[in-house]
Amino acid sequence: MNYNNFSKSILKWYSLNKRDLPWRYKDNSKKDPYKIWISEIMLQQTTVTAVIPYYIKFITKWPNIEKLSNANIDEILDFWSGLGYYRRAKNLHLTSKIINKEYNNIFPKEEDQIKNLPGIGEYTSAAIRAIAFNKDDTVVDSNIERIVARVFQIKEPIIRAKKKIKERAKKLTPNKKNGDYAQALMDIGSMICLPKNPKCNACPILKFCEAKKNSNENIIPIKIKKKVKPVREGYVYWIISSDNKVLLKRRLDKGILPGMLEFPSYGWSTDGNEEIDKKVLSIKDFKRKKGKVSHQFSHFNLLLTVYEKKEFNVNDINGMWVDKKDLSNLGLPTLMKKVFNHINT
Ligand code: ADE
Repeated sequence: MNYNNFSKSILKWYSLNKRDLPWRYKDNSKKDPYKIWISEIMLQQTTVTAVIPYYIKFITKWPNIEKLSNANIDEILDFWSGLGYYRRAKNLHLTSKIINKEYNNIFPKEEDQIKNLPGIGEYTSAAIRAIAFNKDDTVVDSNIERIVARVFQIKEPIIRAKKKIKERAKKLTPNKKNGDYAQALMDIGSMICLPKNPKCNACPILKFCEAKKNSNENIIPIKIKKKVKPVREGYVYWIISSDNKVLLKRRLDKGILPGMLEFPSYGWSTDGNEEIDKKVLSIKDFKRKKGKVSHQFSHFNLLLTVYEKKEFNVNDINGMWVDKKDLSNLGLPTLMKKVFNHINT
């Protein structure tokens, strides 16, 4: 294959078809590595559509490294609710402090400097360096893995062919305009080279694709059966007073949903949060709400049974009592929004 023609076809397609995303710049000289870093962290485990409004709000609220490094972590965590994977928010804050202190608020360029920052691994480092600094790092995310597997007709499941895919991807990486090239592959992966029924007719690299040549585009990448996630069960308590105040607690600053607000919940996370306020458990006459709240975490599925206690006397528990009407402004995590909806529908 002529690797040069491959990247040329991709770059030409990108100039005409790229998605208009808020972290992309029409004028490359205006690129801000800070903003590219924020977008890449948000996009690590969240879809482009979900990220866009958060990204815009985040950049407005914390427009540069210095502002972020001076922010309050609870405010960042509250902001992050709805995006999930809260460790990302904590790492953003830690990283901003490091860059503030050690790099005079200027995002570092070198690979070993970037990879040493909390929350930045191989992929994110490559993406930042390619997009922000036009370095020729090879960017390989799961969409790009699928493209490479198809182009080279790699007949192994991706999980077993990571090294081979990276090597092939490296050969394809151009030494000019690599940021555009990487983002073009991302766009092709999400709009054309889809996991099922790829839109090969619209593909700018159709003529390079071995899988398509052999009509194997729906077979490659080779699939392996997914492991079924374990199910955990727990309880959550909706305790409301006669003047419409609801009991909340803040989770510990570690483990699952670190530092986030919740209606007191028990029995499902083995990270120390179970120990908080045994008084709640000693309340009598809870009413069980029909059905359960289900939520997927990365490594388990959760089912919460909801118990309700109405007309509770606020003075009987010393805790965080919040007006029910203010709950929507507090940045509750999605799990707790689900609990709220379960109780209130
Ligand atoms: N996913 C991760 N980084 C991205 C980017 N820069 N553009 C589109 N999707 C992405």
